Amino acid sequence: MTTTTETMQPNQNRDEANHIRIFDTTLRDGEQSPGCSMNLEEKLRVASALEAMGVDIIEAGFPIASNGDFEAVSEIARTVKNSTVAGLARANKKDIDRAWEALKHAARPRIHSFISTSPLHMEYKLQMEPDAVHDRMVETVSYARNLCDDVEWSPEDGTRTEHDFLCRCVESAIKAGAGTINIPDTVGYTTPEEFHELISMLMNRVPNIDKAIISVHCHNDLGLAVANSLAAIRAGARQVECTINGIGERAGNAALEEIVMALKVRGDIMPYYTNVVTEQITPTSHLISTITGFSVQPNKAIVGANAFAHESGIHQDGMLKHAGTYEIMTPESVGLNKSTLVMGKHSGRHAFKAKLAELGYELGDNEMQDAFVRFKDLADKKKDVYDEDIIALVDDQMMRANDRIQFVSLQVIAGSKGPQSAELELTIDGELKSTKSTGDGPVDATFNAIKSLFPHEVKLQLYQVHAVTEGTDAQAQVTVRLEEDGKTVNGQGADTDTLVASAKAYIHALNKLLVKREKSAPAALSA
Ligand code: KIV
Ligand code: ZN
Repeated sequence: MTTTTETMQPNQNRDEANHIRIFDTTLRDGEQSPGCSMNLEEKLRVASALEAMGVDIIEAGFPIASNGDFEAVSEIARTVKNSTVAGLARANKKDIDRAWEALKHAARPRIHSFISTSPLHMEYKLQMEPDAVHDRMVETVSYARNLCDDVEWSPEDGTRTEHDFLCRCVESAIKAGAGTINIPDTVGYTTPEEFHELISMLMNRVPNIDKAIISVHCHNDLGLAVANSLAAIRAGARQVECTINGIGERAGNAALEEIVMALKVRGDIMPYYTNVVTEQITPTSHLISTITGFSVQPNKAIVGANAFAHESGIHQDGMLKHAGTYEIMTPESVGLNKSTLVMGKHSGRHAFKAKLAELGYELGDNEMQDAFVRFKDLADKKKDVYDEDIIALVDDQMMRANDRIQFVSLQVIAGSKGPQSAELELTIDGELKSTKSTGDGPVDATFNAIKSLFPHEVKLQLYQVHAVTEGTDAQAQVTVRLEEDGKTVNGQGADTDTLVASAKAYIHALNKLLVKREKSAPAALSA
């Protein structure tokens, strides 16, 4: 057994046979879970972060599901150059045509088609006999393969499928042209031993299995998604499907960061490698939690706020003597750097521009000017300005560039002697409007003022405040989730004043809802 930290591990054997392809489905399986929906601009930002992180395949969406999904997959397909871009399709020609229409401009397109194969799903969901399911799969995989060289096929509910039928379908799918066969644990039911046996069984029994890459797609209903994925790798799987922060339907999907770091840290017993630039893990995790409003639990492996915190005296003492005593990987290896003090109010435009470039932002002249003015404003209010502050500031600015409703000013009376009131100024389609409202507390008064200037009926599903850095002068980052007719949107706002950040977050969500209203309703998705 090794006691060294991951940075001291010998390089894993980078033989292609040991390459584990990372298939990220944050934008499809993750985005499809309640409350996680993203707009086009957000999806493009996520796709570019995934590409920069070295993800092999980005599943960008389900093009037939809605016009918004179609548009997002096409835009991502046009933009991403280094990762394969996949689109999901059910086993019918209409879905496959729509997926191909969205994907055809990609440098590396992949059609991912699926149909259920378990007795329960075939009988109740599809109401089809196994032979009909098999034949439909062969017909549609061949159809997809005629359009696109790279086709993946998934037997949905694979872990509850009868073995003989699964082997028959996998063999036929490979013959029909699928280069990747993905075995989903759709309901998060399997266990590591059982899944290892299932994948080994396929490797041993399917005669043409060597003509395809075996992939796995694990859900986390029993908290076993990562363990099941690793067990499958040991049995021969060479692609894993996962999401950032483990977001996804119900209890989520296998977490990308956990799989990647488990393989990296335990290269001694799992001699495999991925192409992921692990230093990009923390920034990408932050991006997803900011956009979705799904904060990461503090004790979450790899990306939780406490994942590298050492509180007890014994641990701190050990850490001072040798970091390896209580750390099996370095914080830097997952991109967690100590907050760096960047600048204060005397910092000039040149230094600010250089800092933005270092943080990965490329702004046009006007945007840069706006950002600099906002930075100076922030530096006036806040003694120390950190990288995190700059990121929150620029993200805040970029998010609302095209919004119909724009925040102008807010004056609030708060405290124990009510009524609390808010005086608000907004521009709506360029026209300045102002009002004064009261409420049960300053946040309620602020939101009432927005409702009075722009009347609407929505349900507030989430109101969440985070401090961007430490200290009482820290910027507040607020997330607001609104729901209208079953559609949810998340809005974000950042400011040193929590109430201003709250107003901005609510207005941001409202603007997103307006865009969503204009887009057509999703098609019925019964598979
Ligand atoms: O969980 C599942 O079965 C899926 C398939 C579409 C791969 O997401
Ligand atoms: Zn899934």
